[in-house]
Amino acid sequence: MDAIELLLRRNSSAKLTEPAPTEEALQTMLAAASRAPDHGWIRPWRFLSVRGDARLQLGELFAAAAEKRDPELTEEALAKFRKQPLRAPLILVVYAQISAHPKVPEIEQKLTVGCAAQGLLLAAEALGYAGIWRTGVNAYDQTVKTGLGLSADDAIIGFIYLGTRDGGSKLLPELKLEEYLTAWGTQ
Ligand SMILES: Cc1cc2nc3c(=O)[nH]c(=O)nc-3n(C[C@H](O)[C@H](O)[C@H](O)COP(=O)(O)O)c2cc1C
Repeated sequence: MDAIELLLRRNSSAKLTEPAPTEEALQTMLAAASRAPDHGWIRPWRFLSVRGDARLQLGELFAAAAEKRDPELTEEALAKFRKQPLRAPLILVVYAQISAHPKVPEIEQKLTVGCAAQGLLLAAEALGYAGIWRTGVNAYDQTVKTGLGLSADDAIIGFIYLGTRDGGSKLLPELKLEEYLTAWGTQ
């Protein structure tokens, strides 16, 4: 696939089904993610792969965290959290392992991991798969972080849901690029 075509056409799919990326595809996606621009070559990106029954465990963790945030939640609301990870055959929890660095502040390390997540999505699409980047309250919840084995300094950048597109591609909006670009200074 032509690189520019990929960059211009990439889009998320909320409806994902089997097959999940193969182990070989996943390795390529991780390699692509690891080419993210990275000030100081700190390599702050980390990935947890969640597939099969582990998705049920993740759903339990989401529900436990939700109940801790709001003990009044109904069983119906909790069931929604339990089902969230079942929306795709593979989920990658993408997080930043932040380290103290004299020149590279936390924000830059997080941005690097955001770029890594985009690299993952682009590679997935190039390999014939699809995905969607999700966060929601779970990404910023301490119970979720602890349950995933993350430390207090780690930051979840996203839950990248991956699989095969279920249904056609959506229509992509045409943006007026001139609304986003301003020439500054004397030219
Ligand atoms: C940091 C971040 C968090 C996001 N969180 C969610 C989310 O929790 N739920 C959701 O439906 N979309 C979320 N999105 C947006 C989707 O991933 C997607 O980009 C959006 O639906 C637009 O679709 P497109 O990528 O095809 O243009 C998030 C995107 C980013 C960058």
